[in-house]
Amino acid sequence: STKAVILVGGPSRGTRFRPLSLDVPKPLFDVAGHPIIEHCFRAIAKIPEIKEVFIIGYYDETVFRDFIKDSSKSFPHIRLSYLREYTALGTAGGLYHFRDAILKGKPDRFFVLNADVCCSFPLDQMLKLFEEKNAEAVILGTRVSNEAASNFGCIVTDAHTKRVLHYVEKPESHISNLINCGVYLFSTEALFPSIRTAIKRRTERPRLYSYPSSDNLESSFYEAAADDDGEEQNEVIRLEQDILADLADSRQFFVLETKDFWRQIKTAGSAVPANALYLMKAFQSQSEELATPSANIIPPVFIHPTATVDPTAKLGPNVSIGPRAVIGPGVRVKESIVLEDAEIKHDACVLYSIVGWNSRIGAWARVEGTPTPVNSHQTSIVKNGVKVQSVTILGKECGVGDEVRVQNCVCLPYKELKRDVANEVIM
Ligand code: GDD
Ligand code: GTP
Repeated sequence: STKAVILVGGPSRGTRFRPLSLDVPKPLFDVAGHPIIEHCFRAIAKIPEIKEVFIIGYYDETVFRDFIKDSSKSFPHIRLSYLREYTALGTAGGLYHFRDAILKGKPDRFFVLNADVCCSFPLDQMLKLFEEKNAEAVILGTRVSNEAASNFGCIVTDAHTKRVLHYVEKPESHISNLINCGVYLFSTEALFPSIRTAIKRRTERPRLYSYPSSDNLESSFYEAAADDDGEEQNEVIRLEQDILADLADSRQFFVLETKDFWRQIKTAGSAVPANALYLMKAFQSQSEELATPSANIIPPVFIHPTATVDPTAKLGPNVSIGPRAVIGPGVRVKESIVLEDAEIKHDACVLYSIVGWNSRIGAWARVEGTPTPVNSHQTSIVKNGVKVQSVTILGKECGVGDEVRVQNCVCLPYKELKRDVANEVIM
């Protein structure tokens, strides 16, 4: 059988997602009408043989409770649970720590998904390649520009056999523009021994593997090593740095290259392109959730059933309107996310922006960002030689006065903007 794991990290991560992550954990932020993690979960739920899914992270126990309750109602044939790491154990450390739960029922393979990516998750194609090649691991890859590649894990592959020849996490010099999408399928028999080997190697030569950024973790490592129980060390083990290169040596590691959309969701601004991509996907699959196109609705647009949108407001493309939001007459919204309980007064204009929970935008105000080139994988732009935010973000309960213009700004929660502002972080 097959299981799946969604890696969500914890509250010390997602700092680049501020100010939005101040009010909701990043995996639960709504894009295209659903929490980021739900897009991952729905893709998993489409694979009939998967009956058990784990969310692994170090957020508080309560964080995913409602999401799990709702998802279990919608997909009763799948058991979904949250496994909490007591501290950040790393992308492979968490898998290893919870190996008993994962291995229960003897699944022969399992998917691992980074929660912070947006893509079509072609899991069925990964399964097919896995079977065809009798693989130990399959990684999802995508091509990006040469400039962007070094921000990701880079894969060198044999174009003919699709075998992974080399894997280097965030290399300093260019090695490939085929990058790791953060979606894997592993054979249980290959992965866990490989993690065990990485742990052993580290025990033998600990200094070579100490990470300077995690002092406290390092000291707990030495404590654990002193215990000499060999396996239960509180040390960060990363799939990317400690495991994938080894798997490439094993020669049974393959890449499925997707030509579909793929984007990382790191900065708060990246929620806007992710929203657009998931809305387009829903539109292509003729999802009934989307608003019906009309003269004033340029698809794709998602409007929550509890939102109030004046018929003279013009929305779209790529707009999501959250629960109980109120959109007044003559408003224009394009390429934006309007969150729960926000209000946009008459004739205001919102472009390439995120309007936070409970925020209010005055009449004839303009809140705008700047589009980034498709596939740039960037959420900042250069304006007059200075790097600025491309998407304008208003945190929770912000106010923008009537006729005020806000351009390329990030605005922390509870701020009132009474004058025009541009290219600023408003704290
Ligand atoms: N449970 C758990 N525990 N999850 C973690 C931990 C941890 O200690 N650390 C990170 N994660 C989760 C994050 O929430 C995210 O979903 C995923 O693991 C990877 O996060 P990072 O470790 O921050 O890596 P990255 O996003 O910079 O790069 C990874 O993803 C890229 C694709 O988006 C790498 O796998 C790259 O190679 C890859 O290109
Ligand atoms: P539309 O699609 O009709 O808006 O025209 P367009 O494609 O030429 O403009 P686009 O959608 O690219 O950009 C939106 C622009 O439309 C903004 O700069 C607004 O100034 C303007 N706009 C159009 N209709 C309205 C409206 O009803 N209210 C407000 N406030 N602005 C509007």
